Amino acid sequence: MTITLTINGESKTITAPPMKRLLDVLREDLQLTGTKEGCGEGECGSCSVLMSGELVNSCLVPVLQAAGASVCTIEGVAVEGRLNAVQQCFLEEGGAQCGICTPGMILATHHLLDKYPQPAMAQIQEGLAGNLCRCTGYKRIFNAVESCAKKSHA
Ligand code: FES
Ligand code: FES
Repeated sequence: MTITLTINGESKTITAPPMKRLLDVLREDLQLTGTKEGCGEGECGSCSVLMSGELVNSCLVPVLQAAGASVCTIEGVAVEGRLNAVQQCFLEEGGAQCGICTPGMILATHHLLDKYPQPAMAQIQEGLAGNLCRCTGYKRIFNAVESCAKKSHA
């Protein structure tokens, strides 16, 4: 079927089976390979994107469900090819190592900071609880989020 949705501010029309995963539509049909697949079962958050302002696991979303929605992927976050504030903080604090979890972490951070511009550490931990990282031990990721929150209020 033909489905129209907005991706990173641009209207896109694709032809795909209605139950095709949004994750696969992004990666295969739209060549937006920044969104990563980890578990494929809704457990790891590597495939997180923002859909109409909510953080979703794109491996669990049939593309039909995204019809008419506005989706933001990691490719929509950088500004004119430059890292945005959240990405910069992850870089500075060593919050990214292998990078598989990073796009999802960045989008989860945006979602968190939209809700709580100055989150307490407990809110940071809860906000990123659906995103698993095998590399960093989380401290650096939490530091990156905290640093970004502080800078945006400097
Ligand atoms: S790949 Fe979607 S939650 Fe793990
Ligand atoms: S940086 Fe490797 S999984 Fe998080």
